[in-house]
Amino acid sequence: MKKLRKDFLWGGAIAANQAEGAYLEDGKGVNVTDVSRGLMYEADDHVIEGKYYPSHEAIDFYHTYKDDLKLMSGMGFNCFRTSISWARIFPNGDESEPNEAGLKFYDDLFNEMLELGMEPVVTISHYETPLHLYDEYGGWENRKLIDFFVRYCEVIFARYKDQVKYWMTFNEINNVHTIPFAAAAIKPDKTDHPMQCKFQAAHNMFVASSKVNKLCHEMIPEAHIGCMLSLSGVYPNTCKPEDVLGAYQLRRRSLFFSDVMMRGYYPSYVERWFEEYDVHLDIQPGDLEIIKEYPSDYLGFSYYRTTTYKDGMPILGHTGGIVGEKNPYLKETPWGWQIDPVGFRYVLNELYDRYQKPLFVVENGMGNVDVLENETVNDDYRIDYLREHIQAMKEAVADGVDLIGYTYWGPIDIVSAGTGEMKKRYGFIYVDKDNDGHGTLKRYKKKSYDWYKKVIESNGEELD
Ligand code: BG6
Repeated sequence: MKKLRKDFLWGGAIAANQAEGAYLEDGKGVNVTDVSRGLMYEADDHVIEGKYYPSHEAIDFYHTYKDDLKLMSGMGFNCFRTSISWARIFPNGDESEPNEAGLKFYDDLFNEMLELGMEPVVTISHYETPLHLYDEYGGWENRKLIDFFVRYCEVIFARYKDQVKYWMTFNEINNVHTIPFAAAAIKPDKTDHPMQCKFQAAHNMFVASSKVNKLCHEMIPEAHIGCMLSLSGVYPNTCKPEDVLGAYQLRRRSLFFSDVMMRGYYPSYVERWFEEYDVHLDIQPGDLEIIKEYPSDYLGFSYYRTTTYKDGMPILGHTGGIVGEKNPYLKETPWGWQIDPVGFRYVLNELYDRYQKPLFVVENGMGNVDVLENETVNDDYRIDYLREHIQAMKEAVADGVDLIGYTYWGPIDIVSAGTGEMKKRYGFIYVDKDNDGHGTLKRYKKKSYDWYKKVIESNGEELD
């Protein structure tokens, strides 16, 4: 039976805005997540003096990355995923010249990773569009952002071409529908045609991605550049045909994004959506050609949980994916995310069957309430979650899925993207900080730290 490949990438994933802090240091500008307490709350128009924004300090990774990376390397990581904060490189997003101090920070960060034997896996935009690009241009609904993004990529590809071989364009691009301000710097509900706004933003991001895929292959021929989607699973709530069809159609709302980016063309089912929603895309000459010619090399995705779809249900979602009806067969985390390793195997097979291109699990993990006792956390629940998900992933590989790697989400506690809490902890490493920003920021290894180390050492064979 097929096993995980020998060069399987094992590691963890974070995002700049949830870890770095130093939110205005060394010339960084404000990005869309800097004005929010968490994506489930409405973002402010600007940073309000005196208000607490958890990401402004986060876990101070900007200053502690050397020690933190050593801890990652202690688990045997051979890769580490993080994002470049666009506003560190172009504080407003529309300048022509980059901020050298921002570039230098990532130079040092990537060098440190490489010295420790970790391949950098880099998200180019992880909910981090510079706020100015919303204020001045209205975000990704405006085509002008394509050129700003391409310029940003040109600069980072030139600078990091020797260090970074795994890239991803937009984090969870399909969240343009459910978390539009974070995913695409747009506020559709403030426009007179929300659907038009969302689909136009998506189109502009598709064009930008393909242009950047092209650029990446020209500038760094040996690099791989992928797309990234939130693909936690959705089941029909019952075998009632309307639930089954509805769940399928709902899934397409997400897969639409990877259909375009992986296959290189708009799928036929969108014509009906566009007609029904009265959406008329501004597609410029050359757009469809570039999308066709430069698709993504691989599909990176996050998988946390599953949910169920009941006919007529409103379509809502958060950082864990679509929010539907509870599944009576599954347990859940304290945040109500239902734990479903079988669903993980299902989704891996679903995606590989659909695209026949390599997959990369770039987020999977369990957010929980951890209690620090005797300088550690006895997080058996996290070990159980991981064991079952890694087992399911191995089954999927045995089923024939081509899988590049697995980066666990939040190997060190960071600020929750959805709720802004520190209390929602994913890490193998505990960070002493609470929801109100108090704490020493000291790091402690949890029980899962040594467990994950054994898993990596044995290339996923040792799961006891
Ligand atoms: C994904 C995001 O949606 O889920 C991450 O890419 C996020 O940024 C992760 O942190 C987990 O969600 P949360 O809300 O628990 O932090």
